[in-house]
Amino acid sequence: MADITISGGKKISGSIKLSGAKNSILPILAATVLISGKSIIHNCPELSDVEAAVKILEHLGAIVITEQSTITVDCSNLKKYDIPDSLMREMRSSIVFLGAIAARMGKASISSPGGCELGPRPIDLHLSALADLGLKIEEEYGILNCSCGNELIGTDIQLSFPSVGATENVILAGVTAKGITVIHGAAREPEISDLADFLNRAGANIQGAGSDIITIYGTSALHSTEHTVIPDRIEAATYLAATAVTGGKITVLGAIPAHLTPVMSVLKSAGCELSVKHNEVSLIAPVKLKRVPVIRTMPHPGFPTDAGSPLMAMLTIADGSSMFVENIFENRFRIVDELKRFGAKIYTNGRVAVIEGVKALSGATVECTDLRGGAALVIAALAANGVTKISKIHHLDRGYAKLTENLRSLGAEIERS
Ligand code: UD1
Repeated sequence: MADITISGGKKISGSIKLSGAKNSILPILAATVLISGKSIIHNCPELSDVEAAVKILEHLGAIVITEQSTITVDCSNLKKYDIPDSLMREMRSSIVFLGAIAARMGKASISSPGGCELGPRPIDLHLSALADLGLKIEEEYGILNCSCGNELIGTDIQLSFPSVGATENVILAGVTAKGITVIHGAAREPEISDLADFLNRAGANIQGAGSDIITIYGTSALHSTEHTVIPDRIEAATYLAATAVTGGKITVLGAIPAHLTPVMSVLKSAGCELSVKHNEVSLIAPVKLKRVPVIRTMPHPGFPTDAGSPLMAMLTIADGSSMFVENIFENRFRIVDELKRFGAKIYTNGRVAVIEGVKALSGATVECTDLRGGAALVIAALAANGVTKISKIHHLDRGYAKLTENLRSLGAEIERS
């Protein structure tokens, strides 16, 4: 298995162009299942999670052509309605295919996604919302067998937590349902709006995406369409934090600054100078990073949980103590033990982590525990004096396209072997 080796302690500087958002392309690929025709999707990131989603589409009977960053999916002739266990295991978030497959095929059969690297990932909100739309769900030996007869029926759905995946699943199921579906307490992440934009271009009628009430007027059929995926705000946050920790300068090209507001506010508190133009965000790091008293991860528009680990790594060498309160995923702090190998001082208690800034980090031998934790290790390694070896980098491949190439172009000494 491949490893990454980084010789740290060097400033990184320059500019990088963001990839399309991982968390947009995955539900959009699931949405192509609803379209009896071609979906041409531009700005697709080269990620293993995207490959996994493409394998699911091909298993269902779709014809998928990838040309550079454009993926064309033709779902005119779908034959299957199941997702094999091996594909579900490759990408736990493939649960988002459930609403789309059930809506298109009248039935769906998938294995229960079970636990993932961030701990148990329940799907109760997905299942109860889909059941409200008329999907009958039976679980047998870990397989969810679902059917809805001829059609799903629109209704009012109340989510008790603004789950991103559950909101997407209901949108996918509601688009061709009979009547009107209203989601109360919907997730407001930019990727939800991107999914709605894609579907509306294909003839859906979804109103209110980006707010906590989304109304979906059922449409009988969707048509071929073309769409460009929004830039990845978490990739942007990662490169900004990586630059801040090395004392460098960066311009992130192709960003949507409004999506980065909570991350930029933490970076500013840490003493970074930020400037924003129409489609770019620039950062100049301070000589010494300052502590950030408290960062609380929250659903959008709060501070994103996915940016927590990268910014935690950045704050390990800040002047003073910072605190993280993780409100979304209980196992985010699994990466803390690996960060401690660099000499970081981090204390955790349940959902709270206190990071006591140290003068410097030293290179270490570490392994990724999850995708964003892996990014935190890369950031710590860039700051650390000496050589770091990072293993289990398949986690990074799930969410960062061309990571080593991008960092090398910014002046980092980084090798993948
Ligand atoms: C998505 C993102 C992930 C991000 C997360 C939160 C994708 C592919 N992944 O994940 O990168 O970290 O949003 O912004 O878009 N929950 C339940 N029951 C459910 C569903 C969720 O209890 O049925 C809980 C989860 O355990 C978690 C919280 O709700 O504690 C948030 O999960 P959710 O918003 O659903 O995250 P994902 O859609 O899985």
